[in-house]
Amino acid sequence: MGLLDNVFPALHTSIQAKENDPTLYAEENFRARASALDSLEFAIDRIAGLLLREGETGVLTDLQHYAESVRTGLEKVDEALFRRLRREIASGTCTGGTLRQRIADLAGPATPGGVQSEEGYDALDALVNGILLEYPAPENVDQPEPEMIFYQPTPARIVLEMVERVDFRPDDIFYDIGSGLGQVAILVHLLTGIRTRGVEIEPAYTEYARRCTEGLNLSAVQFINGDARTGDLGEGRIFFLYTPFTGQMLEQVLERLRQVSTRHRIRLCTFGPCTSQVAQQRWLTSVEPNPVQANRLALFTSAISCGE
Ligand SMILES: C[S@@+](CC[C@H](N)C(=O)[O-])C[C@H]1O[C@@H](n2cnc3c(N)ncnc32)[C@H](O)[C@@H]1O
Repeated sequence: MGLLDNVFPALHTSIQAKENDPTLYAEENFRARASALDSLEFAIDRIAGLLLREGETGVLTDLQHYAESVRTGLEKVDEALFRRLRREIASGTCTGGTLRQRIADLAGPATPGGVQSEEGYDALDALVNGILLEYPAPENVDQPEPEMIFYQPTPARIVLEMVERVDFRPDDIFYDIGSGLGQVAILVHLLTGIRTRGVEIEPAYTEYARRCTEGLNLSAVQFINGDARTGDLGEGRIFFLYTPFTGQMLEQVLERLRQVSTRHRIRLCTFGPCTSQVAQQRWLTSVEPNPVQANRLALFTSAISCGE
């Protein structure tokens, strides 16, 4: 009995189970569908591996097409859900607490210890990115300079944690420094109602973020194409950095933020390896009860400046 005789029936049964499970086609059953899609992805990878090993066989190629068509069927249900939620957001009926509750109902609670992929993404990311990032990501982008970090999205659970922990006030302006495709600035605005801005050096990402914002009818979210070392950050009260750059570049931007903090108090939220460098800034105080860690959200505040 060959490898194929063992593996083929198991893969076929698993794919068929997804095709024939009516609960997976109910729009609201997002979490179960996300898990089914993960499992289909695994099956498709496995079949691709077998095709490489065994060479093209009609049976395997048919199985591959079968798995792909079941995946497409489930993705269509997600796309309909995302379109509906985008319409609700654009009409203003799904923001703030309503959106937070919809996200929790669909993706389940965001727990730091929840089931995540190696990179730290989970069903919550599939949901939030599916709603907010309407188009395929741009592929033709400039090569980043040394010390600049390429685009990678902040896990959605980190953004939700930030919204819960930071005391946002109605007049605050939030900046995502190195805003990529824009979902952090969009989500923070949707959940808090405050004005948000993203500063991003890559023109294609900035253009993308603007398109998504326009589609959602959000006039209080703005994306600025430029270098955070030179762009205007002066109105910001709360800044978020998911390690957009490192070393000297980070030092230069932190110095610019220190200058802003001489005019009004600012708060910094960080995630990723930049956190340790931010924690060394003497003009900032960590508000963490525990020592800061790169893989957790970290919050810092500058001193209250005179006049406040
Ligand atoms: C790790 S990604 C974070 C993206 C976004 N904040 C998010 O969480 O989805 C870093 C982003 O910073 C941008 N970036 C790097 N250097 C920059 C600079 N000097 N000024 C503005 N953006 C920069 C990159 O193009 C990239 O999109």
